[in-house]
Amino acid sequence: MKLIKIGGSIITNKNEYLQANFENIKRIAMELSEAKEDFILVHGAGSFGHIKALEYGLDNPTDVLGKEREIARVMHDVLYLNSIILNELINNGIPAISLPPHAIFKPDLDIDVVENLIISGFNPVLYGDGFVWNAKHRIISGDEIIEQLVRSIPIDYVIFATDVDGLFTKDPKVYEDAKFISNIKGGNYDAELLSHDATGSMLGKMKRIENIAKYVSKVLIINGNVPGRIKDALNGKEIKGTVIEA
Ligand code: IPE
Repeated sequence: MKLIKIGGSIITNKNEYLQANFENIKRIAMELSEAKEDFILVHGAGSFGHIKALEYGLDNPTDVLGKEREIARVMHDVLYLNSIILNELINNGIPAISLPPHAIFKPDLDIDVVENLIISGFNPVLYGDGFVWNAKHRIISGDEIIEQLVRSIPIDYVIFATDVDGLFTKDPKVYEDAKFISNIKGGNYDAELLSHDATGSMLGKMKRIENIAKYVSKVLIINGNVPGRIKDALNGKEIKGTVIEA
């Protein structure tokens, strides 16, 4: 069993509210069907989640009171993206079933629900979502979901499909002299270099990835915008990407 995270930046146009990247979604659904490997899919929210979550002040944990409609709106929007993706997966012959995180976290992931689908021959699909518990709301990212999944379900390796070739010493979209990092073992990376990322978020993401790597043989960060890479990564072929091992 493999686990693949499709970042929101490759399935949506990140800057335009509710704009799905249908071309990529259709191609990725086809690649996943052709790979003929068992997988759990986790996808990001992109412009279906981040824009409104930020506008409504839901990006940090908050009290629900007074924000009920805004919370419901963001939860609906990411469910809408999930539905678009499920439709393409099923059209390509993948028996995908959606597990909306807001309904199966209590407050940790109800792993039995996921296992039950796998045993019954389905591909569970989860996604970055909003979550309400004890009158508080917070965002559950796709990365957090993966952290919980790998702890309980035997996963060979995890693939992060992003919009760049892997990890770089700096943001490759901003800095021409950014250097590609082909592998990281045992947390052996220069935190200073990675923290050059515009938002500093790469370092936080790296910590999560390091945790995930403890439970699987490796974590691969690949470019999901390049046709064929997702399929090849699932099939265990050598492709360009960053390999992270604990
Ligand atoms: C974010 O999920 C969820 C919401 C904003 C509701 P992710 O953090 O997994 O999404 P991407 O991959 O960055 O778009």
